[in-house]
Amino acid sequence: MSVARLVLGIETSCDDTSVAVLEDGHALRAQLIAAQDVHRLYGGIVPELASRAHLELLPRLVSRTLSEARVAPAELTAVAVTRAPGLVGSLVVGVAFARAYAAALGIPVVGVNHIEAHLHAATLEHRVSPLPAVALVVSGGHTELVEVLGFGRYRWLGSTRDDAAGEAYDKVAKLLGLGFPGGPVIDRLAAQGNRAAYAFPRPMLDRPDLDFSFSGLKTAVALAVGALDGPPYADATVADLAASFQAAVVDTLVGKTLRAVDRVGARALCVGGGVAANRELRARLAAGCAERDIPLRVPSPRLCADNAGMIALVGAWMLERGDRWTDDLDVVASLEESGLPME
Ligand code: KG4
Ligand code: ZN
Repeated sequence: MSVARLVLGIETSCDDTSVAVLEDGHALRAQLIAAQDVHRLYGGIVPELASRAHLELLPRLVSRTLSEARVAPAELTAVAVTRAPGLVGSLVVGVAFARAYAAALGIPVVGVNHIEAHLHAATLEHRVSPLPAVALVVSGGHTELVEVLGFGRYRWLGSTRDDAAGEAYDKVAKLLGLGFPGGPVIDRLAAQGNRAAYAFPRPMLDRPDLDFSFSGLKTAVALAVGALDGPPYADATVADLAASFQAAVVDTLVGKTLRAVDRVGARALCVGGGVAANRELRARLAAGCAERDIPLRVPSPRLCADNAGMIALVGAWMLERGDRWTDDLDVVASLEESGLPME
């Protein structure tokens, strides 16, 4: 029987706890994501609270996911767990749990790279992409542009030099008093505002490289907010700020991503990460792909955000390749040191 027949996926790299069961490397039998509401109280993620919450949530989440999947623990053939990058304390909780659980069942464990999983998440819902593909991963911690030549074969095209795109959403939402996380609420408000009301910079869009920078944009929004009367701010003003900020982010992401597609002659574009749920970004990338007659592979929102399905997916491929957790492996916090070719 294949080691990837029924893989239990575990994701605890940041503030969401997620567990999934994947059958035969492609069919998601069940997936649960427990968002940790406690961080809303602090307006951002508190690492110590995140690891404690993972520890409390994991046992119950595993049994609920297995019962939704109608799979008994003894039927599982392997466990896949996020090993890097992320918050160290959160990663350690997931890895320790996964290793103990697998040891008790006598099945193998494999450690998955979270960014590699975002690169391939769209595969859970779409056919495998024609290659080479360009992948854009946009989340709270990352903005990465990668050429995908095959599973495990990547060429890094660009990264953010400072804040990630999602981080800019979260910081701007905080400035406007909109709570945490900021992406979904700015996405909604932007649809009601005027995207030309404020002329925010399109950071580094005029530069030929494929890197990003979002901290200057955040500062430009802070200056505009500082010049207003308030708080509270008028609803129409907040909507205009949200729309103008989002226009700058989306113009930049779309401009650089399509440039990457053209430069490498990509035959598909894959997008992943929490910000990939953004409606304006999805629509603009879809238009760009239609013009080029290439498929856009973007997961539904629950598979854009941090999820264990994508961890089980890449884990299943790794297990089939023969990868296993070994005692000299450890969790790794930074993407640069996580083993992907980022030169
Ligand atoms: O991938 P993810 O769930 O977690 C990380 O690995 O960071 O991404 C979370 C990020 C947050 O910054 C959140 O504000 C952003 O994704 N986000 C969005 C939207 N939904 C979530 N950003 C823009 N538009 C959205 N609709
Ligand atoms: Zn993520």
